[in-house]
Amino acid sequence: MTKIEKIVLSYSGGLDTSIILKWLQETYGCEVVTFTADLGQGEELEPARAKAEMAGVKDIRIVDLREEFVSDFVFPMLRANALYEGQYLLGSSIARPLIAKHLVGIAREVGADAVAHGATGKGNDQIRFELAVNALDPSIKVIAPWRQWNIRSRMQLLEYAEKHNIPVPSDKRGEAPFSIDANLLHTSTEGKSLENPAEVAPDHVYQRTVDPLDAPDAPEIITIGFERGDPVSVNGKAMTPAALLTEFNELGGRHSVGRLDLVENRFIGMKSRGIYETPGGTILLAAHRGIESITLDRAAAHLKDEIMPRYAELIYNGFWFAPEREMLQALIDHSQAFVSGEVTLRLYKGSASVISRASPCSLYSADLVTFEESAIAFDHHDAEGFIRLNGLRLRSWAARNGR
Ligand code: ARG
Repeated sequence: MTKIEKIVLSYSGGLDTSIILKWLQETYGCEVVTFTADLGQGEELEPARAKAEMAGVKDIRIVDLREEFVSDFVFPMLRANALYEGQYLLGSSIARPLIAKHLVGIAREVGADAVAHGATGKGNDQIRFELAVNALDPSIKVIAPWRQWNIRSRMQLLEYAEKHNIPVPSDKRGEAPFSIDANLLHTSTEGKSLENPAEVAPDHVYQRTVDPLDAPDAPEIITIGFERGDPVSVNGKAMTPAALLTEFNELGGRHSVGRLDLVENRFIGMKSRGIYETPGGTILLAAHRGIESITLDRAAAHLKDEIMPRYAELIYNGFWFAPEREMLQALIDHSQAFVSGEVTLRLYKGSASVISRASPCSLYSADLVTFEESAIAFDHHDAEGFIRLNGLRLRSWAARNGR
């Protein structure tokens, strides 16, 4: 085994990463620095400090990354209206490069030669962490205990914990829990009964959205302000990116917005079924498309829509820090120069519908489109010629086919 001097571990303080921490200390016999990121997962982070201290960790890093997460990762992605396989808002995918960036930053600061993560060998997350580390600092090694140790089952994991005096919470003793990943953008739940896509997900998997049947009978109307493609205010009140997303999560959760039950294709090769809750992100996607609908030129909008699946797939597959993602990002960001204005939506029993939009940079012309008499010069005879020429090749084609 290669000699490792110092490791920075992505550490949640949960059972799995506590076991990983112990295993790294034992296996490599070197100092392990823990890094715990606050991404708005809604969990107390101080217990992670106490647990790391108990495990003898000297250098404990707990960092609030909420603003950076939303302004430098979620909002740039939202400018593209990114959806993987037409539906997934990429809530886990977009958080990994940010965590990797900080793992690398801390490793450089403390002179560590390796970083470690708790992602398993069957998932996308290991790929995202490691491709990001490769792109940011190829000299740093990556340790993925789930691929290296010989713990093969949940039972063996609990045995290891017991043997090393790692406290196992009583609710973790029974059957394996759902695999949950949460941050300010979403909560994703996989595993257990969800592994059978033919089985309906139990109600209790949903954590941050109410059941549409229990949502309020009165709709709620909200107005979102945009500047150059990014949300900046709600109901006229300016807020920071993370505060805005927190507010939209609250609003969406109350009205059951953003639930998704999805079977997706993992990059590693298998299909998997998960439940996603993305209340704020779902509202923002609808709103962003709403403001783009009046501010983007047709060809610009269609070009964005063409590259979107490619861009989303890059993020899903872990290529955030790759030249082609940055190139597409430049194109997307350039398109947003005039995407400013206000969008009003109605939240009601699971839906977030745009009901009005306005912009000082609007390309919409009521005078041009009106059914009534118009002041703008539009010669109806031009439309006749336009159709005649567009139909030219269709008439030749139909004649040849003997229609
Ligand atoms: N399948 C999702 C993705 O690849 C979520 C992965 C993490 N979620 C989890 N529950 N472990 O982005």
